[in-house]
Amino acid sequence: ISFILMMIFAAYLLGSISSAILISYLFGKGDPRTQGSGNPGATNILRIAGPFAAVLVLVFDVLKGTLSVYSAYLLGINEIGLGLVAIAACLGHMYPIYFKFKGGKGVATALGCLLSMGYSLAAWLFGTWLLVVLISGYSSLAAIVTVSLAPIYTFYFKPEYTYPVLMLSMLILFQHRANIRRLLKGQESKVWKKGKVNE
Ligand code: G3P
Repeated sequence: ISFILMMIFAAYLLGSISSAILISYLFGKGDPRTQGSGNPGATNILRIAGPFAAVLVLVFDVLKGTLSVYSAYLLGINEIGLGLVAIAACLGHMYPIYFKFKGGKGVATALGCLLSMGYSLAAWLFGTWLLVVLISGYSSLAAIVTVSLAPIYTFYFKPEYTYPVLMLSMLILFQHRANIRRLLKGQESKVWKKGKVNE
């Protein structure tokens, strides 16, 4: 038990490393939490610092999830433990201990976690996200649709992870509350346009 708790804490610490904030400073753009949509994530870094920086953030944030869950898996942690490690990595990303607990929305990190749980599942999730982005142009809408479908996909491909994925989906939907308000008011910005700072 104490070993599982250590892994959960380690996943939270790894998840807490906000690549968006670090890379934005590296590119001389300052804190992404005060620009664009105000979100320290790949989408907003695309707005602030361009595609190269955004890809770096995306890869790093996905890896935080993948490495957390995969290393816990290699260390023999059971499925319930892996689900908790995944949630901890995403909570780290959302409420980072190193950045005053103001972090991102957890989409890339959750996808990274699920990549360790099954390729088909991750491929369906990424495919859904991409399809909605291409059709609508909204990264947030793509995330909202994808995480709403995620528990259903998980029940089909990896039923043992349905509950942790349901929990992750609810957390990610909650993080998108400002986006949902903006989408409903028709004020959400498309991926390639400047957004508004979250209230
Ligand atoms: O992954 C975050 C995305 O769903 C929304 O980002 O910057 O448009 O709020 P943003």
